[in-house]
Amino acid sequence: MKMHRYEEIWLTCGISLIVVFMLITGYQTFAMDMGPPSHIETIDPQKVDQTAPFDKPGVNKIGENEYEVVMTLESFVFTPADIEIPAGSTVHFILTSKDVTHGFEVAGTNVNAMVMPGYIQKITQKFGEAGEYLVVCNEYCGAGHQYMSTTIRVV
Ligand code: CUA
Repeated sequence: MKMHRYEEIWLTCGISLIVVFMLITGYQTFAMDMGPPSHIETIDPQKVDQTAPFDKPGVNKIGENEYEVVMTLESFVFTPADIEIPAGSTVHFILTSKDVTHGFEVAGTNVNAMVMPGYIQKITQKFGEAGEYLVVCNEYCGAGHQYMSTTIRVV
């Protein structure tokens, strides 16, 4: 079977483009570390309250200007709520959900993650400027979804 000349050209172009896009995406994800936040660490969503570190949700100082925020999400609250940290701190968020999929978006930053039951989500963010940062759930999670928010006060 002989292929038409133009068919060959277009087929080559199409396949080349797919390869180029895959290379660009792969480079950004692995070499530039621009992949979406994800962490394959699992947890039994029924036993979050008994499983470390989620048995003690809160803000822990772990170094000079470095904090760890262990947080649980459930309909329709973030625990702990109203976090306060000093300006210039790097914060490592460790998150999980106790019921359904929730979102964790910190307005004014690049922090935007999906928090799923059964999985532990980890995100690191530096808070350089003082201010109030609104934290919202951006995954529809039920009747109270629009009220699910808290704040991070950077002082
Ligand atoms: Cu939690 Cu929407």
